[in-house]
Amino acid sequence: MSNSRRKDEIDVVEPKPRNTVPAENLRRVLGGVLEALGASPRDAATVAELLVEADLRGVDSHGAHLLGLYVARVRAGHIDPAAQPKLVDDGGTTLLLDGGLGFGQIAGLEAVRLLVERGREHGVAAVAVRESTHLGALAAYTERVARAGLICLCFQNGPTIVPPFGGVTQLFSTNPLSYAVPAAAKPPIVYDIATTTVAGNKLLLAKKRGDPSIPDGWANDERGRPTNAPAEASVHHLQWFGGHKGFGLAFLVELMAGVLTGSGFGRTEHTASPAHGRDRVAKGFVFLAIDPSRFLPGGDFGARVDMLVDDVVGSQPADGVDRVLVPGQLEHERRAVREAEGIPLSAALREEINRYAAELAVPGLG
Ligand SMILES: NC(=O)c1ccc[n+]([C@@H]2O[C@H](COP(=O)([O-])OP(=O)(O)OC[C@H]3O[C@@H](n4cnc5c(N)ncnc54)[C@H](O)[C@@H]3O)[C@@H](O)[C@H]2O)c1
Repeated sequence: MSNSRRKDEIDVVEPKPRNTVPAENLRRVLGGVLEALGASPRDAATVAELLVEADLRGVDSHGAHLLGLYVARVRAGHIDPAAQPKLVDDGGTTLLLDGGLGFGQIAGLEAVRLLVERGREHGVAAVAVRESTHLGALAAYTERVARAGLICLCFQNGPTIVPPFGGVTQLFSTNPLSYAVPAAAKPPIVYDIATTTVAGNKLLLAKKRGDPSIPDGWANDERGRPTNAPAEASVHHLQWFGGHKGFGLAFLVELMAGVLTGSGFGRTEHTASPAHGRDRVAKGFVFLAIDPSRFLPGGDFGARVDMLVDDVVGSQPADGVDRVLVPGQLEHERRAVREAEGIPLSAALREEINRYAAELAVPGLG
């Protein structure tokens, strides 16, 4: 995100991967596992599609790597693989859904469908979803809304694993937020971040890959001391990006996604919900949409976005920086590469996916 990134961080040309898998194969295997866990064929294919989309975009922390989390949550009863979102309240421009503890991807895409419909009709819309589960990468949803011509914001909260800034008590999740904005000739702007320096899954993935070290500012150890050692870094002691500034945004995410939607927040995480009882890993999320054509006529907004993108990417890079980017650019570029060359999978992740496939008697990756 910062313009102090150096060439190796902004180059989409990855080292030639040794172990790649075509997106289609990965979709098939993930879908098979999810269906064997109890999702309908359609829902299993949808969740698999969104996971693989994250891998294609280079967001490996929120791709196939999440299968293990989802298998564990279904087996523990924290995700109901057959649940469907239900409309609880329809105020025209505002809608409330209950996710029924089903896959977040299913409630998320339904929320997005309604958001686009109402955003186009009224110019602005907000769809809140309570009692759902993990959405995966938020960009999957905001980008779809932007490609439908609307500006979109999304917030999600989750299980309490991160202390507030300056504290040591776990009260927040990594509280991600995303926005996407339609352009005209160019791909949409897509910003999608955890408000911690990195998503917890990025740390878990670094551990799984056996990375020798992690960068400064990612995480502390169990006693709250900064560390670069993956083995000592705790997923319960992630650091907020930008200190109190990232924390302030995380607080907004908690208010919007947890409090406003009527989902769990802070210490209420394991208190009983009227609809779904006590033992649940519920998350809330909210989507906001604005139709830019209500403010600027015709395609004027998109044309102006294109101009701004040109200004930014055509601007002078700082010393030692290869090029200046706009949010979403890296992921759009990486997607084109990975669609052609396949998705790199570590041996450990491939083995893990094959293990779940074998346990559930569905074909694996081979
Ligand atoms: N569902 C959940 O509960 C949950 C929780 C945490 C994180 N996540 C997901 O984790 C994923 C990764 O989050 P992260 O914080 O590791 O992301 P990150 O730090 O890699 O930042 C990614 C964002 O920064 C932009 N970016 C990167 N380099 C840039 C540059 N040089 N110039 C301009 N923009 C640049 C990217 O286009 C992208 O929008 C996200 O998809 C997020 O939704 C989900």
